[in-house]
Amino acid sequence: MRIAVPLETQTHEKRVAATPETVKKFIAAGCEVVLEKGAGEAARFPDAAYAAVGATLAENFKAACSDADLVLKVAPLNENEIAQLKPGAVVAGHASPFTNPCLKQYNEHQLSYFCMEMIPRISRAQSMDVLSSQANIAGYKAVLMATEYYQRFFPMLMTAAGTVQPAKVLVLGAGVAGLQAIATAKRLGAMIEAFDVRAAAKEQVESLGAKFIRLEGVDAEDERGYARELNAEEKAQLESLVADRCAAADIIITTAQIPGRPSPELIKPETVEKMRPGSVIIDLAAAGGGNCKLTRADELIVHQGVTLVGVTNVPSLMATDASQLYAKNLLNFISLMLDKETATLAINLDDEVIESSLLCHQGEFRKPQLIGESAVSGEAGKGGKGEKA
Ligand code: NAI
Repeated sequence: MRIAVPLETQTHEKRVAATPETVKKFIAAGCEVVLEKGAGEAARFPDAAYAAVGATLAENFKAACSDADLVLKVAPLNENEIAQLKPGAVVAGHASPFTNPCLKQYNEHQLSYFCMEMIPRISRAQSMDVLSSQANIAGYKAVLMATEYYQRFFPMLMTAAGTVQPAKVLVLGAGVAGLQAIATAKRLGAMIEAFDVRAAAKEQVESLGAKFIRLEGVDAEDERGYARELNAEEKAQLESLVADRCAAADIIITTAQIPGRPSPELIKPETVEKMRPGSVIIDLAAAGGGNCKLTRADELIVHQGVTLVGVTNVPSLMATDASQLYAKNLLNFISLMLDKETATLAINLDDEVIESSLLCHQGEFRKPQLIGESAVSGEAGKGGKGEKA
């Protein structure tokens, strides 16, 4: 089986879908690996490191991918790339299923496309869970970005020149990214409060030494473990609770997302205006519209002295570790299907992990709820992360 690793071309994407370490494992399993020249450079994996473990280097996307049986990707394949693959090729990578206008074309080109965001959040698939591996990085980096823009200390300091009060950090959304942000801010000595609409988050937040803020009587966890959208009454309750806590915070790291829906608005512009000048908001939900309407994707906004950071691809800012973990997720996922005798892929549709993540296969679109206008507008109501087809 010929595996291709192309150079990622999406704006701000520095990650690569395979590292020399994972390439070595694919080659040891009997596969041939072709790397587009420079694919690992931005993540600090030079071509020579791939060549040293047996990969072949190709000049461009076409040379690397047009004969490939399996293409390993980070960003979703774009229109131009689809056309250069051989029909029937297998692709594993992100697919942005709720917003991607190319989904139909993946199927029309007879691709077998594995959408890494749809790997179910079950124990057996933890080592393949790209949402967790990348959100963990985003949560960590969010705190480091905050330290850059917040022109004050995080820890309490008692010095001869006076006492410095610790920074007050508020984390909105205590999923994977939020919990890592709490742990990181804690190590820096901040005082932390965290809020989530899932009651189950309370124990996790408290175990990290932060204070959990609760919306009394509300547990908005759905049957898959994700947050559901709040009703109007709950939203009003949340608004006043969050507004009070935001006004008291120096730094807000906001991560709230609802699969397939725009990011919920948690911080109103008038709340930002009540924050102290010099405060910082890192909006990790920026790609889905942000948890604050003032956030602008991939822009730095200063609104009445409050800095809002809307980086949409935070894991890419730590491209080396992000690639290392993502590539391992992919290796573990592909290994699930790799026939050791023939070094080819055996797609077993009875396996929940394989079935759930397979967008299209042999000309059949397997997740019809994602196709059409709803997918394009990001308004799909069903399916998504962890969906069981
Ligand atoms: P996510 O990226 O979809 O959302 C981030 C957080 O925002 C979630 O905790 C969510 O509850 C919260 N949120 C949504 N709307 C909100 C609102 N209006 N106000 C405040 N918070 C809001 O979530 P993520 O990080 O992907 O994980 C979500 C769930 O998946 C969690 O229950 C987590 O424990 C679970 N999970 C399970 C794994 C497993 O292997 N079993 C692995 C990873 C996550």
